[in-house]
Amino acid sequence: MCGIVGAIAERNVAPILIAGLQRLEYRGYDSAGLALLGSAGLVRLRREGKVAALEQALKQAGAQGGVGIAHTRWATHGVPSERNAHPHLSGDALAVVHNGIIENYQALRFELEAGGYAFASDTDSEVVVHLIHQQLQQGADLLAAVQHVVTRLEGAYALGVVSADEPQRFIAVRSGSPLVVGLGIGENYVASDQLALLPVTNRFVFLQEGDVAEVRRESVRLFAADGAEVQRPVHEFEGAHEDAEKGEYRHFMLKEIFEQPLALQRTLEGRLGGAEDLAQMFGERTAMLRDVQCVQIIACGTSYHAGAVARYWIEALAGVPCQVEVASEFRYRAHVVPEKTLFVTISQSGETADTLAALRAATHAHYLAHLAVCNVPSSSLVRESELALLTRAGPEIGVASTKAFTTQLAALRLLVLALAHARGLGEAALSQHLEELRQLPNLVEKALQMDAAIQTLAEDFVEKQHTLFLGRGTQYPVAMEGALKLKEISYIHAEAYPAGELKHGPLALVDKDMPVVAVAPRDDLLEKLKSNLQEVRARGGELYVFADQQAELQDEAGMRVLAMPTVPESLIPIVYSVPLQLLSYHVAVLRGTDVDQPRNLAKSVTVE
Ligand code: G6P
Repeated sequence: MCGIVGAIAERNVAPILIAGLQRLEYRGYDSAGLALLGSAGLVRLRREGKVAALEQALKQAGAQGGVGIAHTRWATHGVPSERNAHPHLSGDALAVVHNGIIENYQALRFELEAGGYAFASDTDSEVVVHLIHQQLQQGADLLAAVQHVVTRLEGAYALGVVSADEPQRFIAVRSGSPLVVGLGIGENYVASDQLALLPVTNRFVFLQEGDVAEVRRESVRLFAADGAEVQRPVHEFEGAHEDAEKGEYRHFMLKEIFEQPLALQRTLEGRLGGAEDLAQMFGERTAMLRDVQCVQIIACGTSYHAGAVARYWIEALAGVPCQVEVASEFRYRAHVVPEKTLFVTISQSGETADTLAALRAATHAHYLAHLAVCNVPSSSLVRESELALLTRAGPEIGVASTKAFTTQLAALRLLVLALAHARGLGEAALSQHLEELRQLPNLVEKALQMDAAIQTLAEDFVEKQHTLFLGRGTQYPVAMEGALKLKEISYIHAEAYPAGELKHGPLALVDKDMPVVAVAPRDDLLEKLKSNLQEVRARGGELYVFADQQAELQDEAGMRVLAMPTVPESLIPIVYSVPLQLLSYHVAVLRGTDVDQPRNLAKSVTVE
């Protein structure tokens, strides 16, 4: 998704902007640009493709300035190209960067064109810069112009605005798209994500919806949507700076896959003490769990798959009906809220537009409570939810989610145990489940030892165009996640099916050119799954099975078996996800794709 960085300082801010954009690259983008205010007035540079191309252009131009805004664009309106890249200009003194979508841009564009403005791009964003220009022409100063223009915009946006006529400040706005102010010493910044600014500060102010910030070298003033000046608290970033570095790993994704034992340990730390810990999960509000009669889970992408696993756990262990739905569907359909329903959102970033919108709509409905399972404590989702369960995975940079997924599952497992205990699960059973969870980091460590074998296996997939992933029970969502990983980063078409459904359609596709990946732990459904595997073999399909050592499955013609460590049933979905992550990673590396920033995708999807 689009990323914004802005800075004002006595020194040249160009390196801060470029470093910030580089740290936002993980969000996904197709072009980049910046505007600098220096002795030569306003200089704008834009490039299609990577930030490195913009950096090169900057070097050649030798542009410098004490004020600047920069942007990575993820195309929504208008193809990825230099002319559609931000910043957009109006006249030669005013520049704007925008993240989000201006829904009423067509009407505004007609109006501006009728007023004599010529458009230089196909974007929705360009209307913003001309509207501000119009206000400036009518005598407003930059702050007043921006404050007026935002009242005319519909949709979601974060903005950065600079004017060569007012080089002592720049203006930023947050309304529906994330934006954070960073506080330095004698210099200040804004960015879409605090990670972008970690090299220059660890002190942040999170803007609230509708806030307008006037950023100067020595001060930052904030104005709420009604124009009143407001104070917002300053937060110190507590994570480790190095989490956002690749270290010895070739890709962030690989680093994040191998970080999982540690990430899981952090997620579980201080939470495995027993009934007392669980009863305090949400302080006094934990008592509410006794009243839960239904759970509604909402999420997108990988987080949705975590929710799909949790549904099996909630119904089996807590005996409470549970529904799981992707946010983009849920938010636009009429739905009935059963009495005493707990509303749960799951999100790595806590900024996903659809998930946030679903939460906002849910706050007007009669839910028992709103709970966010989230990885970013300072995110909008956490701040706007009544309750939060943090996953503590640390920053996840690879677009394809890995450690965020497994830590979500671990956190959800804790939630399910708390819910089950509140509804009568006995102490002995609870201790047994907690004991199993304690083994989780070690078991994931063991699964990671399969890396070399999986790397070899990946060679069989490189030339393929299609794959099928099969699982049953909690392994069905694991298969869905495995298929999503493979398609996201290797661009091989991958589809997941509950193995029992195979004969109702996808079996028609099976032939030697379509590898079929199956997850076969030792559980109640193993024998059923084995019959499904026979259905594939009988049609000449090539099977790749991740199976429990004691599943009595062996290599044979048409079937490769990879032995998994024996895992308690409760942990199967978490541990079996790991080899599927490794498989997609190695296939993508062999195919030479951009593993950490796959084409067309974004890490944090802040538009609808
Ligand atoms: C994007 C990312 C996925 C992620 C999904 C939901 O599509 O590429 O990796 O699962 O958004 O994001 P969230 O931050 O809400 O978990």
